Amino acid sequence: MRTAIVAAMHEELAAVLALMPDEARQSAAGRDFWVGHLHGREVVAVLCRIGKVAAATTAAVLAERFQVDRLVFTGVAGGLAAGVHVGDVVLADSFLQHDLDASPLFPKYEVPLYGSSRFATDRELTCRLESAARIALPGVAVHRGLVVSGDRFVATTSESRALQAALPQALAVEMEGAAIAQVCHDYGLPFAAVRTISDRADDDAHTDFARFVSEVASRHSAAIVRALLAQP
Ligand code: ADE
Repeated sequence: MRTAIVAAMHEELAAVLALMPDEARQSAAGRDFWVGHLHGREVVAVLCRIGKVAAATTAAVLAERFQVDRLVFTGVAGGLAAGVHVGDVVLADSFLQHDLDASPLFPKYEVPLYGSSRFATDRELTCRLESAARIALPGVAVHRGLVVSGDRFVATTSESRALQAALPQALAVEMEGAAIAQVCHDYGLPFAAVRTISDRADDDAHTDFARFVSEVASRHSAAIVRALLAQP
């Protein structure tokens, strides 16, 4: 069982690599893939960089070249739904691209020729990741539901409100998950994603995000990944 751990930012990857005693670098597609062990389990850790295309490339290389058996994404997101606060944790049960619109040819948000706008994560892996998050971060609120992705950092209250109105089920917004979900769907690869809320995707998002990533997000990611790989 080989697990891919994908992070979007340097701080998060560094915290995961600090838990790996034997990582060896392999380069592909302009990225460094770190192959080794964590808690005695085979792991490939990688920085996917930011945005849907970067995330999709990374996921495809993990499936094709590294032959991983499951993929876990760990990172941060902006909170959208009313009860989702900075510091909370969100597990995605499905993803949607909020910036995809091929209407009138296809319904808004639908991925053309897939017949669907949402891609589900793997239920069993998501349950494992949720229990890992609850064990690793006692006292932290954990949510599970729809997460939306787009190639935009949402940093104004008006855009956040527009997203909430258009997609009232969305718990959080980020920039990679829906792309990875679609690639994993194509490869039949179990996928789960955990996001710590770094900001509320509003006018304060930029400052909240910067502070949060350096202070909290990387510790959260590493703790959750460690708890996941410690599971029997
Ligand atoms: N990731 C973390 N915060 C975000 C935001 N406000 N918009 C998009 N991606 C994010």
